[in-house]
This record gives sequence, structure tokens and C-alpha cells, in this order.
Amino acid sequence: MKRDLIKLSDYSGAEIVSLIDSAGLLKKQKGKLRADLKGKTVALVFQKPSNRTRVSFEVGVYELGGHCLYLGPEEINLGKRESTYDVAKTLSRYVHCIVARVFDSKDIFELAQHADVPVINALCDLYHPCQALADIQTIREKMGSFKGLTLAYVGDGNNVFHSLMIACAKVGINVRFAGPKGYDPNYEIVQDAKDSAKKNRCTIELGRNPQQAVKGADIIYSDVWVSMGQEKEKAKRIKEFKGYQVNKDLVKAAHKDYIFMHCLPAHRGLEVTADIIDGEHSVVFDQAENRLHAQKAVLLKLLA
Ligand code: CP
Ligand code: NVA
Repeated sequence: MKRDLIKLSDYSGAEIVSLIDSAGLLKKQKGKLRADLKGKTVALVFQKPSNRTRVSFEVGVYELGGHCLYLGPEEINLGKRESTYDVAKTLSRYVHCIVARVFDSKDIFELAQHADVPVINALCDLYHPCQALADIQTIREKMGSFKGLTLAYVGDGNNVFHSLMIACAKVGINVRFAGPKGYDPNYEIVQDAKDSAKKNRCTIELGRNPQQAVKGADIIYSDVWVSMGQEKEKAKRIKEFKGYQVNKDLVKAAHKDYIFMHCLPAHRGLEVTADIIDGEHSVVFDQAENRLHAQKAVLLKLLA
């Protein structure tokens, strides 16, 4: 039976750790060309722009010996030019894997349901599992292990937070969320992550106070206040997220060796100040690099 990567709640903690173990080995062989995906084609169906996700998948597939096909909104136009069902069925006759970046999570679920080949979620409104895998890999690289760590996420309870929270709960990292009223993470996703956290002896806490969330934290994470597709809410969001900026005052409360993480793209002066994201605690480009290694590990697991 084919396996997809739509959300990390479909993967066990052991599977997540095994993926990042594999990503670590691939990182050691950086630049080495392999032939695991020889003769295989991966379609990238992207409804939204991308730097990291698109480039790391294209390079990753190339380095594993496969071929990549980028299909932007002009080509496929999922659900508009033709139904998601027809796209899933048609692409399955040509390619060995579909990597899709969509607006509505329903589209990624539908693609996975109807495609006869593995589907990888390259970001939707609810999840960004590839980012979370690279983040967990980065955390282990920097911290040595997950045991006893606390991650403070400051900002919007969005796709990046959902996947990160699930991944942390699966590997035993405590999570503290602080965001303004009206921007909490999805209730069901939180409950599910809390169940995993309980099994793995860690905690998920939601609050409004960024200082409290950051107190003693080993990791501070932030993401944009306005995600792709929310551009119309920009002015309102910037106003409501004021007070949730990661800056030098906020990080004073963190552990002295804390790391700063951000999935990028970032907006200096909004969710984070330049001195923090460009400062000595920041690991944002390690995260970006690890997208390549983590996704190669996923491709090997699902395709090779
Ligand atoms: N972090 C991330 O997914 O970046 P892109 O939107 O550039 O792919
Ligand atoms: N939350 C952001 C992440 C971008 C990688 C968005 O969805 O636009």
C-alpha cells in the first residue's frame, strides 16, 4: 500500500526520529549524487509561491537520481481548470510521486485519497510537515537530544505551528504557545497533539503572554503574522499581533543558550527584529538547509 505524508500525526514518534536519522546521514553525504530514484519522476503541484520548498525538492530529487516537474498555478490550477480527482488520477499515470502546495487542506486530502502514488504535503492552510521535520532535525543537531527541552512559539496558531506542535509532542519536546485572541491553533489538532504529548511525557500549553511562554525556553520560534492567502487581513493582523514580536526584550527571559527558529520567509521589524534573526542565537538557515536533507529522507522512505 502506498504511504503519503499529509500530516505528522499519521507518523509515529519512532518514524519521525528514523526520518531525521536518515536526514542526518544524507547531510553527511552532502552533494553526493545517488541513484535511488533513477527512472522516477516527481510532480510539484504548487498553487502558491515558494523558495525553500520548491528548490529543496527539485535539488533533492536530482541528487537522488530522479526527475522533477514543476507545475505552477498556471499549469494545473487545481479544482478550477479540472477537478482534484481528475488531476490525481491523471498525474498518477505519469509520475511516481506528487508533492503539492495548496490553499485548502481539503485539496491535499483529496489528492492523497485519489492518487495511486504517494502524495507529500508541501504546505496547506493546516499543515507544513516537511518544515516540521527539518525543524526537529535542526533542534536535535543544535541541542543533542530532545529530552527536557521547551519550545516557545510566539505568534499565529497556523500551519507551521500545527505541524511543529505535533512533531514536538511525538518526540517529547514541551511546547508553549503565546498568541493573541482569535489566532489560536485549531482545537482538534491541539487535542490530538496533547494526547501524543501525554504518551511522550511532555506538555502543550496555550496562553496569551509571550513573556511567560519564553521564560526559560530553549527554543523560540516565530512565523509570519500574515500567511499566504491572508493578504487581505494584513493591516488587521499587524495591529493585532503587536506585542508578539520576538525582540531583544522578549528573549531576555529565555535560557541563555536559547536558539531562535523561523521557517522563513521572515519580515524583519514585524514578527522578529533584525538583531534577533541575524544574531548569534539564530539557526534559520540551518533549518532552511535541513529542508533538503529531511525531504530526501521522506522521498527515500516513500519512493525508493
Ligand atoms: N519555509 C518554507 O516553506 O518556505 P517557502 O515558502 O519559500 O517554500
Ligand atoms: N505560515 C506561512 C508559512 C510559509 C512557509 C504561510 O503559510 O504563508
